[in-house]
Amino acid sequence: MIDQINEASDYIRKRGVTQPAIGVILGTGLGSLFVKEIQNPVVVEYHDIPHFPVSTVESHKGKLIYGLLQGKYVLAMQGRFHYYEGYSMQQITFPVRVMKSLGIKHLLLSNAAGNMNLSWKKGELMLLDDHINFQPDNPLRGINNDALGPRFPDMSRPYSTYLNNHLTSIAKEQGIKLNIGVYVSVTGPNLETRAEYRFLRNMGADAVGMSTVPEVIVANHMGLPCCAISVLTDDCDPDNLKSVNIAEIIAVAGKSEPVLTNLYKELIARI
Ligand code: HPA
Repeated sequence: MIDQINEASDYIRKRGVTQPAIGVILGTGLGSLFVKEIQNPVVVEYHDIPHFPVSTVESHKGKLIYGLLQGKYVLAMQGRFHYYEGYSMQQITFPVRVMKSLGIKHLLLSNAAGNMNLSWKKGELMLLDDHINFQPDNPLRGINNDALGPRFPDMSRPYSTYLNNHLTSIAKEQGIKLNIGVYVSVTGPNLETRAEYRFLRNMGADAVGMSTVPEVIVANHMGLPCCAISVLTDDCDPDNLKSVNIAEIIAVAGKSEPVLTNLYKELIARI
């Protein structure tokens, strides 16, 4: 795996991605506004990068975008990989390992998620304070490479208190409603049944989605501080469940994208 990480990062570096400080992973419907803020962008397509998976989902573009934002060098992934696409957990999280090898010091993630907390509403944001890995696999399964991180990584605080404190202050200053809660990751690709939403809510989760947790596990494995924000795209009340489709989910994500973009822009200015 180390050789593959090095080959991928050597290629990306040769394309001009020389000193990224902050990595950003953009979720479903959240990939366009943020990257427009990056000045003089260097664009590297996933399919050109050795060992990189290629996104199979239409709503996810497959590009790395690098450049200055708020005076910091940012490396953004426009499009991410999901377990439901058929990749292994190691493939899904490979880009996180590559970004760390390129030098990022912080990782900012975003996703679209179903809202199971009845005191919140779709369109609002949730800052992840914690998560439940409810996917049937783990990216750290297999022989551990001690050069990358420990066999049994601590997960007592998977999301950086430093980054989360900044985000809550920024949200307060800007008058943005930023809910704080627990995200549970499922495999998908189907959305949940009423019984499943009820079960996941009773389990202690506020939001449910199909990504983020594998990437956060790998970031923690490597000691890379990270934070994640969910855009709550659909209300998942098991006693009053309406049918949703991906187009509606993307539309709600798109409406909240400017707010999320502002939060992350300001966070980047402060770290
Ligand atoms: N469930 C799982 N993933 C999701 C949902 C959902 O309701 N909404 C957006 N991503």
